[in-house]
Amino acid sequence: PVLILLGPPGAGKGTQARMLEERFGLVQLSTGDLLRAAVAQGTEAGLQAKAVMEAGELVSDAIVIAILRDRLADPDCARGVILDGFPRTTVQAEALDRLLAESGQKIDAAVSLEVDDAAMVTRISGRYTCAGCGEGYHDSFKQPQTEGTCDKCGGTEFKRRADDNAETVASRLQAYHAQTAPLIDYYARAGVLTSVDAMGEIDGIAARLAAIVDAAT
Ligand code: AP5
Ligand code: ZN
Repeated sequence: PVLILLGPPGAGKGTQARMLEERFGLVQLSTGDLLRAAVAQGTEAGLQAKAVMEAGELVSDAIVIAILRDRLADPDCARGVILDGFPRTTVQAEALDRLLAESGQKIDAAVSLEVDDAAMVTRISGRYTCAGCGEGYHDSFKQPQTEGTCDKCGGTEFKRRADDNAETVASRLQAYHAQTAPLIDYYARAGVLTSVDAMGEIDGIAARLAAIVDAAT
């Protein structure tokens, strides 16, 4: 199956995608993670993306589509994918439709995670992840069970993202409303959209998403 998670920065796309990955054996495809890896490796795409990401703006469609296309061609993606942070523009959505059509696939569900902008600033500014396995945490909402030790891998090193400061979050939210929110209509017209209230508890939202995946597959 192919599942899309739509929602502004901090809506919980990454958190929920990781939970769905574990529960259904699907592959989480985050263009944000792929771009951060390209920046860390200093690839051509990474060099072009770095400043744009630090400003909270969208990386060019050409770069993102090329990265996504390569990753989607990996054999493990045949198990099914959860797209987290892609598509983010109409051009990307149309490119995805074409890529899937080429391999005889289609979008089974697009879920819009509905949240308040104000709460997103709090969520993002408290966020950190395990440097070892990437598990996400939050200063107030999701601390490791043993302080300073990752629940998933036992790692003791954590990191914060360069773009997780109040100023950059404001431009990321603005980019979302201007360029990505129109995709809610795009997928509603395609008949695959479900909206989920994503202001509640992480586990309750995960249960709603699991029901959507069950119904769509
Ligand atoms: P990307 O990495 O995709 O970041 P984003 O969309 O800004 O999303 P986030 O990762 O910030 O949030 P999330 O929704 O995953 O929330 P999370 O689960 O972590 O993109 C980064 C940049 O890369 C972009 O700005 C752009 O420059 C570029 N880029 C990426 N893809 C692109 C594309 N397709 N086209 C062009 N450019 C692209 O949750 C946030 C925090 O809240 C966590 O701490 C979590 O523990 C906590 N939390 C989660 N759910 C809840 C809840 N229900 N209640 C309380 N706390 C919660
Ligand atoms: Zn870990």
